[in-house]
Amino acid sequence: MRTLIFATNNQNKVNEIRKVTEGKFKIITLSEAGINIDIPEPHDTLEANATEKSTVIHQLTNQNVFSEDTGLEVAALNGEPGVKSARYAGEGRDFQANIDKLLLSLENITSRTAQFRTVISLILDGEEHLFEGICKGHILFQQIGQQGFGYDPIFVPEGATQTFAEMTMDEKNNYSHRKKAVSKLINFLSGL
Ligand code: IMP
Repeated sequence: MRTLIFATNNQNKVNEIRKVTEGKFKIITLSEAGINIDIPEPHDTLEANATEKSTVIHQLTNQNVFSEDTGLEVAALNGEPGVKSARYAGEGRDFQANIDKLLLSLENITSRTAQFRTVISLILDGEEHLFEGICKGHILFQQIGQQGFGYDPIFVPEGATQTFAEMTMDEKNNYSHRKKAVSKLINFLSGL
């Protein structure tokens, strides 16, 4: 089985991606690879940040590695918080602070369409490949549900009646941006 380092410190993302790559790839986390660094996300696009993360880890390990960067793009806010989704309410603020700020930004706004967009950067045998996954949906006026992470409690994907935070991981993966990007990654690797 092919081994890939997943360049993230976010255990939720590792769990989601392990679930959809089970039996196909061995996913090694940064800590399992003995790497204990905070990977920078200094750029203003998801693509550039994903590339930065996979490149940093590839240079450290010389192994095959992929990284992903995800943003929640809200149409009424011209695509914000987008690449700034993790620190929308400020550096070091938590998921709840980000949700609170987003709900406030959308107060009295009825057009609430949004999408999660994931970009994966794979560095395989020294060459980079990019994959994108999009999940369209809308933002609620209040949060519902306890599962998942990040903006899950306020996001309802198109075709669903529940938020991501009300879904099991399998249910979320029926819609998920990350799952779609990972499926493209798997198809690519399977075709080699
Ligand atoms: P990152 O920069 O890719 O780690 O993600 C940016 C932020 O987007 C995270 O801190 C979360 O708040 C949010 N995010 C990423 N993926 C998801 C998801 O699947 N559900 C909800 N929020 C997410």
